[in-house]
Amino acid sequence: MHGTDNGAQPSPAPKRRRLAGIQDETPNLSPSTAPEPLPATAPARRRMGDPRATTKPSEAPTAAPTRRRMGEAVPEASSLSHDQEQHPGVPQEQVTQTGGKSVLENGVANKAVRQEGVPGSMSRRWKGVVLKVLGVAVVTAAIVLLARWARTTQPVMDFLSEYPGHTEPGSDAPTGIPAWVNWQHFLNIFFLVLIVRTGLQVRLEKRPAGYWTPAPGSFFAPKGNARKKVSLAQWLHQCLDVLWILNGLIFIILLFTTGRWTRIVPTSWDILPNAASAAVQYASLNWPAENGWVYYNALQVLAYFLTVFVAAPLAIISGIRMSTWWPDNTKASRFLTIDFARALHFPVMLYFAGFTVIHVLLVFLTGALENLNHMFTARSAADWLGLLVFLASVLVIAAAWFLTKPVFTTPLASKMGKVSR
Ligand code: HEM
Repeated sequence: MHGTDNGAQPSPAPKRRRLAGIQDETPNLSPSTAPEPLPATAPARRRMGDPRATTKPSEAPTAAPTRRRMGEAVPEASSLSHDQEQHPGVPQEQVTQTGGKSVLENGVANKAVRQEGVPGSMSRRWKGVVLKVLGVAVVTAAIVLLARWARTTQPVMDFLSEYPGHTEPGSDAPTGIPAWVNWQHFLNIFFLVLIVRTGLQVRLEKRPAGYWTPAPGSFFAPKGNARKKVSLAQWLHQCLDVLWILNGLIFIILLFTTGRWTRIVPTSWDILPNAASAAVQYASLNWPAENGWVYYNALQVLAYFLTVFVAAPLAIISGIRMSTWWPDNTKASRFLTIDFARALHFPVMLYFAGFTVIHVLLVFLTGALENLNHMFTARSAADWLGLLVFLASVLVIAAAWFLTKPVFTTPLASKMGKVSR
């Protein structure tokens, strides 16, 4: 049914906003008005295994609607109507249809108040931002001045000459970056970008474009597990995870069989003083010598090691815990709870994002052409080819980003299970 029951004019759907630290948990409401007052009850999060998930809608008439998240799969044999599934805990009568989309009438007033905001809060927020930026600038300047001064003192000069910031590679250590590392590195970026995109969709979208239920006995629905109905974004997220993990496994196997592991795994304790030395050199803005073709500096080694051998496994374990793959009713579920997995998964994603920003910044600030040739053309050269190949890879990733829209992915999802709205 189009329009609203009370005859009010629809207004553009409000964008999701946070105000004064309030986490907006209301669903994405389609144009409508709000005849009802604000709900008094704080929104409850619906979690897998949470008894609230099975509460009958009629038993929770005042509970505010919740967003479904990864791991909050709905059972395939759900007897709820689609709108009730969208707004668990809310009786059907409170869910009205507008322009083909469901509307929670009593949520709209809430939204309107948030949209208007509190007078003066904007300028206060800006003041806060400016103060923070100034604070960061002052602290950064102090660190730089301190490091520059420290480098003029004899003990620090002695320390830096004893520990130049990297461990000298052994005579049999592999030199150069082969083409397979280029391919692995590109595929890693490719999958990671799309994984972060779909992961954020799973976390933030309030009205998924569709749902997906794995085909019985398929790879996504292990034997003994209830077939879980998840959003299309979660289906794609899990598909990309499989490819990213496969790429990572091939990387690890090749890393160890070719002996290249010594380039990104610390092999002696002098990595620690060398990392301190590299940190002082970075902080003083007189950066450590660049020779990525032969070795990485100690901070690079630690960062790559942490990324490949700590962050990636943590992302995988916590992700599997929230996925359709995790076996139902196992003892392990008590040790690795879904809340813990969720609390871990998001910060690990932030780590990946932070690592990538700093990593790419340093790639461009420490000899962009040479570095890009290492990682995109497997050559030690300072011509423009590496940059061209890098830009072409960015285009490929942008195209894939576009192709992850449900209109393109649904045919594949239908082949792997049942797609519903
Ligand atoms: C646009 C994004 C990226 C660019 C342009 C880039 C570029 C580079 C370059 C040029 C190197 C070699 C540095 C040198 O020779 O001195 C490198 C190494 C490396 N990068 Fe990236 N990178 C990107 C994203 C990522 C991401 C997302 C990750 C992982 C999360 C990553 C992980 C690594 C690792 C582990 C190495 C060391 C590989 C080895 O030598 O075995 N990079 N990257």
